[in-house]
Amino acid sequence: MAALTEQSKQRIEQIARRYPEPRSGLLPALYVAQEQDGYVTDEAISDIAEVLGVSPSAVKGVATFYTMYYHRPVGRYVFQVCGTLSCALCGAEKMIKHLEKTLGVKEGQPTPDGKFMFETVECLGACGGAPVMLFGDRYYENLTEEELDKVIAELRSRPDGPVETPPQLKCYGAIGGNENNSNG
Ligand code: FES
Repeated sequence: MAALTEQSKQRIEQIARRYPEPRSGLLPALYVAQEQDGYVTDEAISDIAEVLGVSPSAVKGVATFYTMYYHRPVGRYVFQVCGTLSCALCGAEKMIKHLEKTLGVKEGQPTPDGKFMFETVECLGACGGAPVMLFGDRYYENLTEEELDKVIAELRSRPDGPVETPPQLKCYGAIGGNENNSNG
């Protein structure tokens, strides 16, 4: 388990300065921790608490309340497939079976190379495009097995390297970047 790096701590300080109360930066701070290690470690929770001046239990309470924060290693690329009614009726199960077959893992299990994981989630709010999958900040509507194959092939071909900034942090600017360059 990893503590936050100095760079991550500085990033959280930079985010916290945007708010009247540093604790208001808690949600993006958790994304910074997740960006660093792929999930939020206990050490990171303690570090975030220290940087934001709140108790570790307050940070943990928030981190465990929201399902978008992970507390164990997950794949580098996480697909969220909607399993709620409209999507279920329009083929979500077929998409899930295809992911299982293509990736060789069950839902919630990272692939052995650590690259992929998929999970079933509740309604993604795009029912008219069922079946729907969310990856990063992109919605895939009217999803098909062929499209899944295309997405997976493109991601497999990406070179290993630093993890991309999650969409939830993009409005805060680049890591270590000048906060004045951000859009937020
Ligand atoms: S039921 Fe799948 S997006 Fe709403």
